[in-house]
Amino acid sequence: ESFLYYTKCYLRESLPLQAMFICILSLPLFHTFISLLTLFLGDVRVRSRAGFETERRGSHPYIDFRIFHSNSEIEVSVSARNVRRLLSFQRYLRSSRFFRGITVPNSSNILDDDYNGQAKCMLEKVGNWNFDIFLFDRLTNGNSLVSLTFHLFNLHGLIEHFQLDTMKLRRFLVMVQEDYHSQNPYHNAVHAADVTQAMHCYLKEPKLSKSLTPWDVLLSLIAAATHDLDHPGVNQPFLIKTNHYLATLYKNTSVLENHHWRSAVGLLRESGLFAHMSLENRQLMESQIGDLILATDISQQNEYLSMFRSHLDRGDLCLENANHRHFILQMALKCADICNPCRTWELSKQWSEKVTEEFFHQGDIEKKYHLGVSPLCDRQTETIANIQIGFMTYLVEPLFGEWARFSNTRLSQTMLGHLGLNKASWKGVQREQSGSGDDVDPAFEEMDSDILPQEPRLS
Ligand SMILES: *[C@@H]1O[C@H](CO)[C@@H](O)[C@H](O)[C@H]1NC(C)=O
Ligand SMILES: *[C@@H]1O[C@H](CO)[C@@H](O)[C@H](O)[C@H]1NC(C)=O
Ligand SMILES: [Zn+2]
Repeated sequence: ESFLYYTKCYLRESLPLQAMFICILSLPLFHTFISLLTLFLGDVRVRSRAGFETERRGSHPYIDFRIFHSNSEIEVSVSARNVRRLLSFQRYLRSSRFFRGITVPNSSNILDDDYNGQAKCMLEKVGNWNFDIFLFDRLTNGNSLVSLTFHLFNLHGLIEHFQLDTMKLRRFLVMVQEDYHSQNPYHNAVHAADVTQAMHCYLKEPKLSKSLTPWDVLLSLIAAATHDLDHPGVNQPFLIKTNHYLATLYKNTSVLENHHWRSAVGLLRESGLFAHMSLENRQLMESQIGDLILATDISQQNEYLSMFRSHLDRGDLCLENANHRHFILQMALKCADICNPCRTWELSKQWSEKVTEEFFHQGDIEKKYHLGVSPLCDRQTETIANIQIGFMTYLVEPLFGEWARFSNTRLSQTMLGHLGLNKASWKGVQREQSGSGDDVDPAFEEMDSDILPQEPRLS
C-alpha cells in the first residue's frame, strides 16, 4: 500500500519517471513487490496468448493505463509491445514515455521523408573519427541510433547479404532505440549510436576489414547498438545494495551487461528479423552477441587486456581464425565503448559532463536514502576533471595503447593524440580549480575490485 501511495504521489506530481524508478528502487518493499509483479506478468503472459491482451495493463498497480484509452493508436502500440516484452521492470517503466506524452517516432518517416538533407550529408562521412553524433542526433530529431545503424547495415551490404526485410530491420532498430532510457544523461541511445559509429570506424581498419566476414560485421553492429540496452542509469553496486531483482537474477556478476544482452535477444526474437535463418544460426548469433556485450563489463578489463597483451607479445593473432577474430571484435567493442576521451575535445567534453551528471545523480539518490554514496558519485567532493583524469589514466590509456599496437594506423594515432590533449586540458582545469596539480582520484586505484562504482556506468 505504501508503494501504491508513493507511486500515486509521483504520478500526480508528474515527477520524471526516472526519479520515480529510483525512489521505488530504494523502498524496502520493492523486492517483494517485484516478486509479485513477476507473478502477475507471468500469469498475464500466459493469458494473453488466449487473447486477453488488454488485461495486463490493468494488472499494473502503479501506472494507470486507462489514461491511454483516449488515443487508440498509442494504446495499441503500448499493449502489443508490453504484453510481449516483459523481460524487465525497466522495460515496463519504459512504456511510461507514453505517459509523459512522448510518442513513438514514426518509423516510416525516420529514414525517408523526414530525413533532413544535412543528416544525409553527415552520413556520407560516417566513417570519420570527428563525426559529431550530437549534431546528427539533433538533425535526425532524436533518431540517431535508428538512422545511423540502418545506414551502416546498408553500407556494409548486410541487408542484401542476409536478405533482411527492411521494415523488420527498421522496427527492430526503433525498438532498440526506445529501450534506451532517454532520461539518462549518459546511458541513452545517443551513447549507443556513438559506440556503433566508433565500431564502424574500427571495422574499417585494414587489419579487420580484410578478414571480417559479413557475419562478423552483422554481430558487431548489433552488439554495439544494443550493448547498453535498457540501462537504468545506476551502476551494479547500486542494484546490488538495493536488492534489485536483476542483481539476484545474475548473481551479482555482470548484472547490467547480462541484462543488456538478454534484452537484445528479446528484441531480436520479437522483431523476427532473422526468422528466416536456421535455429542453429540464430542461437549462434545470440550467444556471440552475448560474448561481445559481456566484454564491455569494465570490471573485467584487466583480464581482457592481459590476454590481448600476451597475444600481441607472442604475435600469434591470426585473423583467419574465427575465435581470434571474435576476440579482436570484443576488444574493438570495448574500445568503442570507452572511446569518449579519444574524440575531439568538443565532443569528449560533452560526454564527460554527461557521465558525471549521471554519477552525481546516483550520488544524490544514495544520500537521500542513506545508501552510502558510491565513490565518484559525490558532487561535494568530486570534480569532472578528477574523474576524467583517473578514467583516462587507469582505463583508457592502457586499452588504447594496446589497440594501437594491434592496429598501428592513422586512426589509432589520432585517438591517442586526442587522449593526450584531452588529459592535458582536464589537468589544466584541475589546476585552475584546486591549484593542487595532478592528483589522480584514489577511487581508481581500487581498479581490481569488481565493485568499482564507476565502471559499469562508463560502459
Ligand atoms: C507516419 O508516416 C506515414 C508515412 O509518411 C504517414 O502516412 C502516417 O500518417 C504517419 N503516422 C503518424 C502517426 O504520423
Ligand atoms: C549479492 O550481494 C549481496 C550484497 O553483498 C549479497 O547479500 C548476496 O548474497 C549476493 N548474492 C549472490 C548470489 O552472491
Ligand atoms: Zn556503453
